[in-house]
Amino acid sequence: MFYATSANDHGLPYDPLKAIVAPRPIGWITSLTARGEINLAPYSYFNAVSTRPPIVCFSSEGRKDSVALVEETREFVCNIATWDLRDAMNLTSAPFPRGIDEMREAGLRPASSRLVKPPRVADAPCALECKWLQTLTLRDLDGQPLDRHVVFGQVVGVHIDDRFIANGRLDTAAMKPIARCGYDQYAVVAEVFSMTRPEVAEVAAPRVAAGGRRSG
Ligand SMILES: Cc1cc2nc3c(=O)[nH]c(=O)nc-3n(C[C@H](O)[C@H](O)[C@H](O)COP(=O)(O)O)c2cc1C
Repeated sequence: MFYATSANDHGLPYDPLKAIVAPRPIGWITSLTARGEINLAPYSYFNAVSTRPPIVCFSSEGRKDSVALVEETREFVCNIATWDLRDAMNLTSAPFPRGIDEMREAGLRPASSRLVKPPRVADAPCALECKWLQTLTLRDLDGQPLDRHVVFGQVVGVHIDDRFIANGRLDTAAMKPIARCGYDQYAVVAEVFSMTRPEVAEVAAPRVAAGGRRSG
């Protein structure tokens, strides 16, 4: 099938787009109100977008509390949501009013951060302490501003539960991170595989040897 998103006439009961861009990692964002109240919410429009310096971003559909609070206090923490924490993560997505501590509501223990004020989720195997860089309010093809806000933050501190380090590497599969798919579906990373990135010479060599284009 093909459909143009202007008409969105896919004929399916639900929009399939989020099931296509899947799985999406979940940034489980801790922020604080100016009065120091804890806010915690999951964002699957989340990713790392730079290695040096390390930069992450999350996108809010509507100006939600996480955006407003990060802009006010200029700090946040991205906690890694895992299979073991899935119910707590889901609970923190409920539309609690500002000032209600979602960490407590979900029965989660806070742990102090080192370089920023918002606490991390103690039982999350990894957490990224971030300082706010900018918020990009998106525009559509007509240049109209949208109520879609992408928050960028530089990672200034990284917590890793040492139990997940094996042979000098972080064992991602052992942490069982969960990721968002379409509809009400999630994926869990339980298995990984390795591929070494080739050098251009290695890829080009068989073509040159064959005297032209490789078939297949
Ligand atoms: C797994 C998951 C991922 C979500 N991802 C997003 C997202 O990327 N953007 C968004 O605006 N809302 C997302 N939500 C909904 C927010 O978590 C929800 O609106 C929450 O109440 C926002 O909290 P806040 O106002 O404290 O920031 C997601 C919910 C779940 C369960």
